[in-house]
Amino acid sequence: MNILLIGSGGREHAIAWKLAQSSLCDQLYIATGNPGTALVGKNIDIQAHDFEALKSFCLDQDISMIIVGPEAPLVEGITDFFRQEATKHIGIIGPSAYAAQLEGSKAFAKQFMQKYGIPTASYLEVTTSNLQEGFRFLEAQSAPYVLKADGLAAGKGVLIIQDLEEAQLSLQEMLTGKFGKASEKVVLEAFLSGIEFSVFALTNGKDYILLPEAKDYKRIGEGDTGLNTGGMGAVSPVPFVDQSLWTKVRARIVEPTIHGIHQEQMDYTGFVFFGLINVEGEPYVIEYNCRMGDPETEVVMPRIQNDLVALLQSAIEGNLTEHQMQIDARSAVTVMMVSGGYPEDYAKGYTISGLDQVEGSIVFHAGTHASGDKILTSGGRVLAVTTLHTDFKAAAKISISNADIIQFDGKYYRKDIGFDL
Ligand code: AMP
Ligand code: GLY
Repeated sequence: MNILLIGSGGREHAIAWKLAQSSLCDQLYIATGNPGTALVGKNIDIQAHDFEALKSFCLDQDISMIIVGPEAPLVEGITDFFRQEATKHIGIIGPSAYAAQLEGSKAFAKQFMQKYGIPTASYLEVTTSNLQEGFRFLEAQSAPYVLKADGLAAGKGVLIIQDLEEAQLSLQEMLTGKFGKASEKVVLEAFLSGIEFSVFALTNGKDYILLPEAKDYKRIGEGDTGLNTGGMGAVSPVPFVDQSLWTKVRARIVEPTIHGIHQEQMDYTGFVFFGLINVEGEPYVIEYNCRMGDPETEVVMPRIQNDLVALLQSAIEGNLTEHQMQIDARSAVTVMMVSGGYPEDYAKGYTISGLDQVEGSIVFHAGTHASGDKILTSGGRVLAVTTLHTDFKAAAKISISNADIIQFDGKYYRKDIGFDL
């Protein structure tokens, strides 16, 4: 079959790399893709929000399956759009706009978790009409204070603040436009203390299969210090996620979530990303995402031994339970190479060299651009260097030695991914 993958980052290169290995995949297209996806499929220059152009393309090229990488087109309703008559024969991996509110609205997600008894931090929804109640909620908490813009805010909408007065001021600023419409409503939460990890399910809105779990490293600096980023690296499996924790995650979080999705009759064929925190052995949900994670996908895909197209096709056809997941027992470690200055201002357009000298790792492109026969940097996160090895520390070492070999001006990467495990 012909497949269209939507997106252009490291996550999409990892998904494309895996799709291309399937004998069920004839032609793979990626909109817009990057120089990495061009190695395994054909990039097409149509933006994710241009649903009409995507539709024409799919009809012209006889596309049977669409996989939506990022959240924005899902929240904007790409799945509902393709459910219309002319394109309803195309299977689509990604939930409807309504269901995508599990990621697109923190308040929607919290109400859902509360309704289905899923463990998460206690919370309060605040708008300008109950600001005083918001202040009192903050006063009743102890530091640090957690404030979340309800809507999507490019990953910047969560504030964790030490000082009560500052938190109250920030609440006011958020409600009056700090993140535009996204923060007209704010969710205040109790702070949970623990280690975060991520679990992924593929579902058809009724049944599900679990993919390998992962942990990402969000801070720019070694030892988890400095500013938050889109993700500086990831590992899978996560050593502290043992059988006992898995059992709790499945029974208390994954099953009630899929049950809730079914109960609410959500149109949800796709990935559920559970952002979890382990609080002294008890798992809580920090957030849901309605897509795979980045850079988690760059460690998850290399560990999946099943045919990914067959799994996705089964999700679309509603027979997911026929599959047993086959997971590579080895560890995967991704080290993200980023542009100097990221996550603040950084320069683009530097030539990348040494890609042909990499040994023992897979290099997924994230923010790169082809110019003639050169590959240039074009984003903050540039390349994800993934290694599989029986020992995760050895895997990390190999990724780091390859990140040493690859050169571009201002390159930076963390040398301590997995340090805490
Ligand atoms: P979110 O976008 O909801 O995942 O929040 C971004 C980050 O903020 C998370 O990855 C956590 O590190 C942190 N965070 C969010 N909510 C909480 C909470 N209730 N307690 C502690 N940390 C949190
Ligand atoms: N790595 C977290 C995310 O993709 O949202």
